[in-house]
Amino acid sequence: MSDNLILVDHPLVQHKLTLMRDKACSTGKFRALLREISLFLGYEALRDLPLTTMNIETPLVEMEAPTLDGKKLVFVSILRAGNGLLDGVLELAPAARVGFIGLYRDPVTLHPVEYYKKLPANVQERPVILVDPMLATANSAIAAIDNVKAEGAVDIRFICLLAAPEGVAKMKEKHPDVRIFTAAVDERLNKKGYILPGLGDAGDRMFGTK
Ligand code: PRP
Ligand code: URA
Repeated sequence: MSDNLILVDHPLVQHKLTLMRDKACSTGKFRALLREISLFLGYEALRDLPLTTMNIETPLVEMEAPTLDGKKLVFVSILRAGNGLLDGVLELAPAARVGFIGLYRDPVTLHPVEYYKKLPANVQERPVILVDPMLATANSAIAAIDNVKAEGAVDIRFICLLAAPEGVAKMKEKHPDVRIFTAAVDERLNKKGYILPGLGDAGDRMFGTK
C-alpha cells in the first residue's frame, strides 16, 4: 500500500460501499449512502487538525477545553460528482470555505476539460481538502490539485470513495505531498478508464443521468 494512501476500512463504510456498487441501488439511495460515507472519510481526513484550548465553565468547574486552532478549512468540490461528498464534509466543518472546480473527462483522451473555477481567497493559509468520489486515471484530481497549488495551497488532502491502483500511483508521482483518503482501492482500470469492479459512472448514478 502506498504511503500517501489512507484506506478507511471501517465495516460500516465497507457495507455501505457494497450497497452503492450494486447496480440495483436507486439514485436516491446512492446519494444518501455517499453522504453517509463522506462523514467517515472526512473524519479520517481531518484527524490531525491542530487544537488549542479555551477556558470554559462547565456546570461544575472551570476548565481549559480543546478547541480547533488555525484558519478555517477549504473544501474544493470537483464538479459535478464531488458535490455528492460535499454536504457531508460540510456538516463536519460548517464554517469551512468552499471552492468548485468544474472538470469533465474527455471520453476519448481521458484528459480533463475545465469549464468552471471559483476558489476562496487565501488558500495558501488553509488546509485544502478536495473531494471527488472517483480517482481513476487521476488526471482530473491532478489537474484540480495543479489549480489549487497555483493559488498557493500547501496543505492539500484528497478524499475519494473509490480509487484505482493506476490513479494512486500517478498521484504519488505527480503530487507526492497529497494524502488520499479512500474507502477502497479496486483492481484496475478498463480500456475506457473505468474502475473495475467499481460502481460505474459516479455522476450518472448520483444524478440519474446517462
Ligand atoms: C468522474 C469523476 C472524476 C473523474 C475521475 O467525473 O467524478 O472527476 O471522472 O476520472 P479520472 O481519474 O480518470 O480523471 P466525470 O468526468 O465523469 O464528470 P462528472 O463528475 O461531471 O460526472
Ligand atoms: N469516473 C467514474 O465516474 N467512474 C469510473 O469508474 C471512472 C471515472
